Amino acid sequence: MRATPSRKITVVGAGYVGSTCAQLSALKNLAKEIVLIDVLAGRPQGIALDLNQSAAIEGFQARVIGTNDWAETADSDVVIMTAGLPRKPGMSRSDLLETNGKIVRQVAEELRRRSPEAVVIVVTNPLDSMVTLMRHHTGFSARRVIGMAGVLDAARFAYFLAEATGTAPADVDAMVLGAHGDSMVPMARHCSINGVAAQDLLSEDTIGELAHRTKHGGAEIVALLKTGSAWYAPASASVAMAEAILHDAQRMLPCACLLGGEFGFDGLYMGVPAILGAGGVQRIVELSLTAEARALMQKTAGSIQADVATMRDLGLM
Ligand code: 2OP
Repeated sequence: MRATPSRKITVVGAGYVGSTCAQLSALKNLAKEIVLIDVLAGRPQGIALDLNQSAAIEGFQARVIGTNDWAETADSDVVIMTAGLPRKPGMSRSDLLETNGKIVRQVAEELRRRSPEAVVIVVTNPLDSMVTLMRHHTGFSARRVIGMAGVLDAARFAYFLAEATGTAPADVDAMVLGAHGDSMVPMARHCSINGVAAQDLLSEDTIGELAHRTKHGGAEIVALLKTGSAWYAPASASVAMAEAILHDAQRMLPCACLLGGEFGFDGLYMGVPAILGAGGVQRIVELSLTAEARALMQKTAGSIQADVATMRDLGLM
């Protein structure tokens, strides 16, 4: 067993996403210390104790610390921000803007004081706005404040493509760009199954149906659960990003990054292919877009800009 590096991860929010992030991080021995913080007294402590009691069975060395005290999060290398309300059936992610924006602002202030060198992975919805707010209130460099969305959306698209082609999801490469919302842009032209283009295996109509299901993948689960939103795939996506950063893996993953001219956008957070390694985003990868994809990227950017404008009107930034 490789020695567990003396790294530290903080997971903010001990809900289903946060506690699953803590478990996956421990199982992967991503850090020596995994701090799970929440405002609810006892909840993070109970989850941490339960997870630590699985260590003898699972064989991980990482130690999970549950706390309500921000001081215990100090000097984290990576922070996964999951705190905030989930959607209810019929709600859009943007309906959470004000409530979750205030939570993100509070957390950003704590992170700025306690972990000034951390890379922050934001999960809280509405994602593109919340990662914008996190960067604004931490003042961290853009490469260290990243939104988790594209990895989740691409994983959903990959699963649907695998189901439709009768192949293994692990063999499917899928790409989804843009906002983490109904205007996201599944990039069918860039999807393949072990090098075989999806468009060679499925009709345009079928791929269109799968892309539509991907765009509404979160809402489909919210409608089924009725009392919350997805957590297993969001947690897997978040921890995959944390792992790429902590292992300096140079992985190309779709993430919400602050664009500085890429794809024709400046000063906007949006889902694009990025290389993740030590310190966060190493670089953003531009790709050639069809006229149709360019138009869809403009549309999705518009939805993000509208939410950012609302945040300004609400005095959140
Ligand atoms: C989702 O798409 C929670 O936004 C997350 O399921």
